[in-house]
Amino acid sequence: MRPLGPVHWGVEALALRRANGDAAGMSTSPPTHPADPGPSVEGEPVQNGPDTWPSSGRKRHALSLFSALPSDYDRVGALMSFGQDRRWREAMVATVGARPDQRVLDVATGTGMVAAALVRRYDCTVVGIDQSTEMLAGAEARRAGDPHLAERLSLRRGEAERLPFADADFDHVTFTYLLRYVDDPAATLRELARVVKPGGTIASLEFGVPARARLRALWTLYARIGLPLIGGLFSREWAETGRFLARSIPDHYARFPLAALRAMWLDAGIGGVEIRHMSFGAGVVTWGTRNPREGADAGAGPGGDLG
Ligand SMILES: C[S@@+](CC[C@H](N)C(=O)[O-])C[C@H]1O[C@@H](n2cnc3c(N)ncnc32)[C@H](O)[C@@H]1O
Repeated sequence: MRPLGPVHWGVEALALRRANGDAAGMSTSPPTHPADPGPSVEGEPVQNGPDTWPSSGRKRHALSLFSALPSDYDRVGALMSFGQDRRWREAMVATVGARPDQRVLDVATGTGMVAAALVRRYDCTVVGIDQSTEMLAGAEARRAGDPHLAERLSLRRGEAERLPFADADFDHVTFTYLLRYVDDPAATLRELARVVKPGGTIASLEFGVPARARLRALWTLYARIGLPLIGGLFSREWAETGRFLARSIPDHYARFPLAALRAMWLDAGIGGVEIRHMSFGAGVVTWGTRNPREGADAGAGPGGDLG
């Protein structure tokens, strides 16, 4: 197991980017982070630094979107979900079952809420990875305010599509609100499964859309009107995020219905896939166990409720 050193580059890179005139952080091109030295793990050179990242519209949008949100992220997220998001994260974390001597990778860690919940619950070691310098700066601030968390949590900048870790490097992996932002969710899931030891848990949290017609209609009304309104109380960028979520969540399930997503998990070599719908389906927790052999018997294990 390799200990990762604390990172301070996130805050510095953010300051430099602002100094370069990108204070609003809503540019449509990917950030170049000219002075971002990238994370270092015991002196290893950065293999997949931001300069080598490919850029698609979806990718550019995700980088741009999250560059403006970290300062209010935890508060607005709680408000937009009527305080349910914390309960959803706790439910996801509860599926992991880590031991204190184990190492968990939290992908799309953002401001580190899931990473902190993992440490709180299991006292395990956590590596949080995210492609957004700005969101990582939020996670770094969380670390800085909590010495025990700082001891257990390391942060790293990187992409879910190309994790800078060896096969089976982690005991478990968690990821939250990630697959809507990647071009190829199936390939990303395979990459996430790659770094987990056989028998380890892979767990995720995503927004959902209620299945029952009346609830779905209410959800749609709230998403289209309520989310931008609540977001607008904070900033123009949050109002735009509200509008984006109202489109992005149903679009995701139109492209990948839950049955297709479950099949993706199985194809990625994750068995015993279970799905829990929370808050009438507005939150979806999915988890499973890394199979012993790549792609083998991927369908084994108890099936989940596909709603
Ligand atoms: C909605 S936030 C979730 C943050 C946090 N996990 C939580 O519990 O709220 C989504 C995060 O995914 C990150 N992200 C999106 N696409 C990514 C990718 N391809 N690789 C790594 N991080 C990504 C964003 O930068 C953002 O921080």
